Amino acid sequence: MKVVATFARARSESSKVSGPIGLVPTMGSLHDGHLSLIEEARRECSHVVMSLYINALQFGDIEDFERYPRDLERDLRLAASAGADLVFVPEDSTMYPEGDVSRVSFKGISEIMEGSFRPGHFEGVGTVVVKLLAGLQPDRAYFGRKDAQQLAVVRRLVRDLAFPIRIVGCPTVREKDGLALSSRNLRLDPKCRESALALSRGLFEAADLAESGEIDGPILERTAMNVMADTLGVEPEYATLADQINAVRISHVDRPAFLAVAARIGRVRLIDNIHLELVERSVVVDRGLRLSHKSVLYDDAMQQDGSLENRRVS
Ligand code: PAF
Repeated sequence: MKVVATFARARSESSKVSGPIGLVPTMGSLHDGHLSLIEEARRECSHVVMSLYINALQFGDIEDFERYPRDLERDLRLAASAGADLVFVPEDSTMYPEGDVSRVSFKGISEIMEGSFRPGHFEGVGTVVVKLLAGLQPDRAYFGRKDAQQLAVVRRLVRDLAFPIRIVGCPTVREKDGLALSSRNLRLDPKCRESALALSRGLFEAADLAESGEIDGPILERTAMNVMADTLGVEPEYATLADQINAVRISHVDRPAFLAVAARIGRVRLIDNIHLELVERSVVVDRGLRLSHKSVLYDDAMQQDGSLENRRVS
């Protein structure tokens, strides 16, 4: 696996290989969710590029940016063991050259949910993703469904700006007890980690209701919201039923949708969602995949030789 810092070097490496180039954009602090994206790219592409760049522009909160976990050596070991061929680790000056003023904005689909709680977040995501797509020129790019609104925004960006790139959405990966994997989970102490389960618990309660025929948005939202609000240590921000394509709030599950939640657990802000599909007029819920082992997020799951033992998802 090669590590490069410039777009030109990355393109030159990719040009040596024939067949599709797959990009997995990350901010490092890799967990099994990222590894599953690399593995999916590995299955579909001849050359797998992972980018690792902590994009200050998408963090409204400077404290959140500064506390974001950083461990390049560990991330490179994990990327190699999951099958990446190349890791692109740019300097700030490569991503935002002096005098850089261009920004990507999204009318309509970036104002609710994450957009309203993190003003400027999607402008930051969109801007960095456009630079990665333009600079690395992949054929496919892999994103987790865990960030459902981000996935919708990126799909829209690729369509509107005519990038000839396929965006692949991959399932959320959860720990054994249901907590969605996030680099921020590292900052939860044991009590907060217990409280954090309220996000997935609320979503799964709503999922059960939806699968038994309840398609009313406010009822599903209230179900998830109440579970979070009733859990000690959880400050819910929102529970919103949205259209998968446009990420706008909808009143019923009458098209592919997701139910997204966000909450603060102490000083850590977490998000989660389930995807709801209509299959022959019934709702089928994608609750994501469950790990059967401890996540690599907690270092001791990683073997000394860099291999990942017993990595199973179901
Ligand atoms: O999902 C993330 O990790 C980031 O938002 C992304 C897509 C790498 C852009 O910085």
